[in-house]
Amino acid sequence: MCRMTILLLIAASVEAFGATLRGQLRRIAPAPRAALEAVVATPAADVDASLKKGIASFYDASSGVWETVWGEHMHHGYYGLEGGERKDHQQAQVDMVDEALAWAGVDSGVPPVRVLDVGCGIGGSSRHIARTYGGSGVGITLSPVQAARANALSQAQGFGDRLQFTVADALQMPFPDNSFDLVWSMESGEHMPDKQKFVSELVRVCKPGGRVIVVAWCHRDLAAGETTLRPSEERLLDRISRAYYLPRWCSGADYVRLACTHGLRNVVTADWTKSVRRFWPAVILSALRPRNLWRLFRSGEATLRGALVMPLMIHGQKRGTIKFALMSGVKAKPGDPRDDLSPVLPPPAAVAEPESKPPSPKPATSSSASPSPNGFVWGNTY
Ligand SMILES: C[S@@+](CC[C@H](N)C(=O)[O-])C[C@H]1O[C@@H](n2cnc3c(N)ncnc32)[C@H](O)[C@@H]1O
Repeated sequence: MCRMTILLLIAASVEAFGATLRGQLRRIAPAPRAALEAVVATPAADVDASLKKGIASFYDASSGVWETVWGEHMHHGYYGLEGGERKDHQQAQVDMVDEALAWAGVDSGVPPVRVLDVGCGIGGSSRHIARTYGGSGVGITLSPVQAARANALSQAQGFGDRLQFTVADALQMPFPDNSFDLVWSMESGEHMPDKQKFVSELVRVCKPGGRVIVVAWCHRDLAAGETTLRPSEERLLDRISRAYYLPRWCSGADYVRLACTHGLRNVVTADWTKSVRRFWPAVILSALRPRNLWRLFRSGEATLRGALVMPLMIHGQKRGTIKFALMSGVKAKPGDPRDDLSPVLPPPAAVAEPESKPPSPKPATSSSASPSPNGFVWGNTY
């Protein structure tokens, strides 16, 4: 039997196993959709707080098992531009950091002195960047467990005071303007309920002439004439969003537009969906090892839900709905001519005007009929 058939069988078994387990989970905990719909009817500030709490507890519970099985990096691996390179999966994750930095033009000629890691996990990127380029850094996460572990690992690896990790919100960062040479966000943007505020904060804390790099799960760019994703695509993203505590998704083109609007210039973007295609099959295989399955069970419902939708990530990437997108740009300096800003803006999507989009399809319940607080629906696309 070829490898692909084996993987498909495994993915199907995980889905079947998932259906059974979801039945079990429904008995022991309120269904996530019901919980989220209740949230939708509450004021925006409460929704934001509830989302943040969900993200924090998700990573508090799941980071230990991830680290035991996969190590310090909590992001996709890079397997060559076409995704065909066979390599150790943890090495692929380190390669992802190096490749993204090289792609964005960060090099040892002018190394970043002060780095901010936004949504730092347990600090894998920060330590790798500090090891490669020297300098110092700060990482922020919503998870107290992650921040403590990131500090402990950095101390143990001899970084001393050079690296510090703390709990803080990326949408309201506790740093003065113009503080960092490199502002790095690896797979945290998908958790941000307000992408506009997210990008504006990244740019605000970046020094003029410094660089911002965002690597994020996105939905595909909308085609000319399209105003939303197809309903089946929205349903797919909706299931993933509920498992991973994601608010609405945006596209790579949306990130470029926001970057240009907020004062980045020489903005570049890339789609590395092919380059990461080996990642989720490898994660699923590792999760199915008996010892790891046991660890997954012990780490609680939220982690299990995350594991159960992993095949959907493969499906979404294969059908072209989910993109692994990169965006980078340099913060304009005072006096830079306006036409230094990237001249080609992609067509505007819903990020700035979410209320202008038709509502995402949802079951007809009284709570889902309420207007979306703050223009977004937690657990849905826009
Ligand atoms: C998938 S993990 C990625 C971790 C890390 N960047 C890495 O690649 O190893 C997502 C991270 O984003 C963080 N995050 C999500 N929303 C955040 C927010 N509003 N403010 C700060 N961190 C946030 C989570 O706490 C978590 O550390």
